[in-house]
Parts: sequence; C-alpha cells; structure tokens
Amino acid sequence: MRMIDIIQKKRDGLALTKAETTWLIDQYATGEIPDYQMSAWAMAVYFQGMTKAEIADLTMAMVATGEQIDLSEIPGIKVDKHSTGGVGDKVTLILAPLVASFGVAVAKMSGRGLGHTGGTIDKLESIHGFQVERTQADFVQQVKAIGISVIGQSDDLVKADKLLYALRDVTATVDIIPLIASSIMSKKIAAGSDAILLDVTVGSGAFMKNMTDARLLAQTMVDLGNAVGRKTVAVITDMRQPLGTTIGNRLEIAESLSVLQGGGSPELRQFIAELAQIMLSLAGVEKSLAAILENLSNGAALAKFKQMITAQGGDVNELLTSPEHDTRFSKTVVSTQAGYITSFDALSAGLLAMRAGAGRAVKSDALDLDAGLRIFKKIGEPVEIGEPLFEILYNKADFDADKESQVLRDAISISDDKIEIKEIVEIIK
Ligand code: URA
Repeated sequence: MRMIDIIQKKRDGLALTKAETTWLIDQYATGEIPDYQMSAWAMAVYFQGMTKAEIADLTMAMVATGEQIDLSEIPGIKVDKHSTGGVGDKVTLILAPLVASFGVAVAKMSGRGLGHTGGTIDKLESIHGFQVERTQADFVQQVKAIGISVIGQSDDLVKADKLLYALRDVTATVDIIPLIASSIMSKKIAAGSDAILLDVTVGSGAFMKNMTDARLLAQTMVDLGNAVGRKTVAVITDMRQPLGTTIGNRLEIAESLSVLQGGGSPELRQFIAELAQIMLSLAGVEKSLAAILENLSNGAALAKFKQMITAQGGDVNELLTSPEHDTRFSKTVVSTQAGYITSFDALSAGLLAMRAGAGRAVKSDALDLDAGLRIFKKIGEPVEIGEPLFEILYNKADFDADKESQVLRDAISISDDKIEIKEIVEIIK
C-alpha cells in the first residue's frame, strides 16, 4: 500500500477499507508514515468525513497500537465514565465512590487538566500522599479488594492517539467529530471496561459549543462503542456555567467531600445521582434515584471514597480535618447590580481560575493546588447589590485581582428574568 493513494482516496470522498485504515494507523504509530502525509489525510477527513465502518476500523486500529488493560480478574460488569471536559467538573470524584457503594466495581483511568478544564488526577493529587501512578497489577488488585480505584492514564495506552492528537493540535484538525470520537473511544476501549457512560458537555466551557455538534459526537461515540461490543450511553450536559460551586483542585476535593457527607448543592447531588443511575443500569443494577441519593447521605459513598484514599496512600485524616486550604491572598467580588443571574461564561471563569494558578496554560506548567474560585451565585439565583458573587483564592503576588474581578463581573449577566437550567439535557443510547 502507498500512503499517497490513501490520501487521494480520502480526498476524493471514498471510504477506506479496514485493511487500508489498519495499515495507515499501524505505519504511523511505528514512524513509517511521516507527519506531513498524516496531516494531509486528517485534513481530507475534515472535508470528506468518515463512514461508521471507517470510524470503527480507525478506533480499533488505534487501540491495537498500545497496551490494553485486562480487567477480567475483577468479577462483574465494569463500567467506565468519560467527560469531554468541563469547568469545575468534579463528577468522577463523587460518582465513582457512589457507584462503587452499590457493589459495582469502578476501575477508572483519568487525565490531567489543560487550559480551562481541570483534570481528576490533579484534583486527587491535592490529597496529601495520594498516589495516582500504579502498576496494572496493583490497580486490578485494589479494585478486586475494595471495588474502586482511580489512577492516571497509562502512558502506554493508544500510542497512535498520542501522536495523532499532537499532530491535529498544530494542523487545525482537532475539531473533526470522527477523529474526536475515535480518539476518546480508543482510550476507553483500551482501558478495559465492559460498558461506558459518556458525558458530552455542551456550552461555552465545553469542546462542543452547540447542541447539533454535541448530539452528533454523542451518537457517533455511542454507535462506535456498541459496534465494538461495549454497551455505551451518552448524556449531553449543560456546560453553560461551571459545575457546582468551586473551581480549583483542593477546592473541588473539598466540595466533593461535602457532597459525600450529605451536603453540597441540591442540583449537583441530583445530577450525580442521575448519572449514577445510568452507570448502575449499564452494570445491570437498577436503583431508584431516592436510593442513590440515600447513599450520598448515609455515608456509604463516603466510606468508599475514604477506602480509596487510604488504599492509594492518601491522608484521610488531614482531608477530614482541613478539607480546604487557605491561600496567601483572597479577593471577594461583589455584585454592582440586583436581579437574577441569567448567563455565566464558564470558559471565562475557567481561564481565570487557571491564571490564579489552578490550571495549566501549557502542559509543563506547575499547579497551585490550593488556588481557585468559589462561586456564590449561579444561573437562576437572585442577587442584591453588594452581595458576594465570587471569591478568588490565590498565592501569586503578581495576580491582578482588581482586573480579574472585572473579568468575573463581565462573565455573568444579571437581569429581571429568572432562568431555569437542567444539567442533563438529553440521553443518547
Ligand atoms: N479529547 C480527546 O481525548 N481526543 C480528542 O480528539 C478531543 C478531545
């Protein structure tokens, strides 16, 4: 086979065969196909799209370029969960122990944050001593013993995706739904679970900015998962505003702990309970929302969270005695208007938290695990003049808190209209 013929075929709008797609990915992963030819193929995909069969072939060819996690030693149906990224997204921290509290094993690999989206692994590392790097054997052993483990994604998973994603990033070929779908699903499939819940976020703080694209991405991934034998369900969730009331690593751990202790905002509790109901159902366990919410209040999910922290070397006592850490500086931003919050730019709030130290602008940036943002008012809530809207927590002496306060005021709009929003917008099976 010759790469030039494959590029030409794709450029002319024809579907590649399984043998061609497998060859293409294989040769790229082993360095035989140069980046310039691979980028021409990716750009041809941007204009011509891919058939369902091509997307499935591409995904499985990518899976084969790296390590595949074998979870077969763990009894029962293993369910994974993935979010396409949000601001203040602490779902996994609460959902994983909640699902595990019903006896459904959660063996999850998560990522680090970049830009305005946080990463579960960074958040977990804000717990003193918590280890996110484990051998595959230790990971499986822990899930067998206590039913839960969340670790960092192995570097050896889906080698082709690492190369292709870096190439797409610099060739204007990231925003191509078949390539996003195969990139995400290849990692989920290689991670070994039997069923997958996908949280496709939509809104200013998300990858997908509108419902049409979110629906298409969700349906493409659901079809793909089901085509390769993994039961897959997607929920489309509203990321017009940050999730919950904090953005920042330790702050989000503290908020998650509070939900697991029976507190937190009712909206966040309800949202996580709805996700848990779908995840449990994928594992063949049917539970009412009331029963699921009960495990958030009665300490059952909290007990799983604590067990996981201890098993991975984390200091539970330190977390329970001082869930939030002070920073050197803080700035409270108050409202200059009265009314209801009607819009909230999640992207702007996420980028501000990043500048305060909670996120990375580039991969090599160090994090300030204690920095971030507290949010006192969300869409639909009333506010008076002089009432606190936000509190920025930071340690950097050169952070321009006055300028950033204005950024936050500009990120929301206040009017006389009371708007209601619901986190789960649509479920796609
Ligand atoms: N996340 C991924 O893992 N891959 C993409 O292509 C886009 C988002």
